[in-house]
Amino acid sequence: MSSPNKPKPFLSWKSRISISFISALSDASRRSNGTVNRRFLNFLDRKSSPNAIPVNGVSTKDVIVNAEDNVWFRLFTPTAAVNSAGEDNTDTKTATLPVIVFFHGGGFTYLTPDSFAYDAVCRRFCRKINAVVVSVNYRHTPEHRYPSQYEDGEAVLKYLDENKTVLPENADVSKCFLAGDSAGANLAHHVAVRVCKAGLREIRVIGLVSIQPFFGGEERTEAEIRLEGSPLVSMARTDWMWKAFLPEGSDRDHGAVNVCGPNAEDLSGLDYPDTLVFIGGFDPLNDWQKRYYDWLKKCGKKAELIQYPNMIHAFYIFPDLPESGQLIMQVKDFISKVSNSRL
Ligand SMILES: *[C@@H]1O[C@H](CO)[C@@H](O)[C@H](O)[C@H]1NC(C)=O
Ligand SMILES: *[C@@H]1O[C@H](CO)[C@@H](O)[C@H](O)[C@H]1NC(C)=O
Repeated sequence: MSSPNKPKPFLSWKSRISISFISALSDASRRSNGTVNRRFLNFLDRKSSPNAIPVNGVSTKDVIVNAEDNVWFRLFTPTAAVNSAGEDNTDTKTATLPVIVFFHGGGFTYLTPDSFAYDAVCRRFCRKINAVVVSVNYRHTPEHRYPSQYEDGEAVLKYLDENKTVLPENADVSKCFLAGDSAGANLAHHVAVRVCKAGLREIRVIGLVSIQPFFGGEERTEAEIRLEGSPLVSMARTDWMWKAFLPEGSDRDHGAVNVCGPNAEDLSGLDYPDTLVFIGGFDPLNDWQKRYYDWLKKCGKKAELIQYPNMIHAFYIFPDLPESGQLIMQVKDFISKVSNSRL
């Protein structure tokens, strides 16, 4: 528990209630034998249906990639982008749109692209950035361990590379960005490395948006110790998630978790995308996230860091926080800057 004179993050009462609710649910769903009660979770995880008819300027549809592994994505298409003055942007139809391939968070265990909160996040990205968003459904732990999630992410990129006609006509696959938050940002990183190695024919992954990535290691960092007891990411929860994710017998210094630790991948020969990393001052993972950013720079990659000193893990999910809207505008600026630098 936090002591009374410890500094506290600013949060609205609405976000506080949601966070306590999410934490309680995820704890209650984990059984002592290491499995997760999916029936209980599915009952409580409110879903949004796809809408072919635009709602607030966004239409969506679900596309199956691999039915056997239940790999699919929800495609978000902006139909009437709104410019910064709040007016309809009439040239939406003629201008080409960047494509954001998005991986949701949830510790690799929880949530899906049609979960209410993530459907809403992708709608905001789609409408405010004026981009096509592909939100990926990947296999969950503990039923499926590493590297299933990375394989599914890579499969979606290969699918799009071969089947770009599923995207709207004005989608420009030479301006493709990977994005994700928490476990989704871990996935975005490893999928970026995989596609750099494998190569794609038409898709060019030019940027990566890493929102509070879920990385870790055997070491307990200063922030993990100082912020123990924070919402959503206590050490007990993250230890459980890594254990459910990693191959039996591996520890948290595995290269999937401790990306820049003793088993780090050599990025030097790879055309790794320009990266924007977001971190929060009240996120116990922020030392690991800062190390990721430093490591990318050290490897000679282009990387930017944006810090939100007063924010907790997953803050941007809560639309009533002004910082959530600010983050989307920063992603928008990054996407247009990187797109223009590649013209
Ligand atoms: C774990 O416990 C649940 C509920 O008690 C049970 O249904 C499930 O079969 C168990 N799984 C394993 C692998 O022991
Ligand atoms: C492209 O789509 C076709 C038809 O749905 C599918 O059979 C094929 O596997 C897809 N390509 C990839 C790389 O997934």
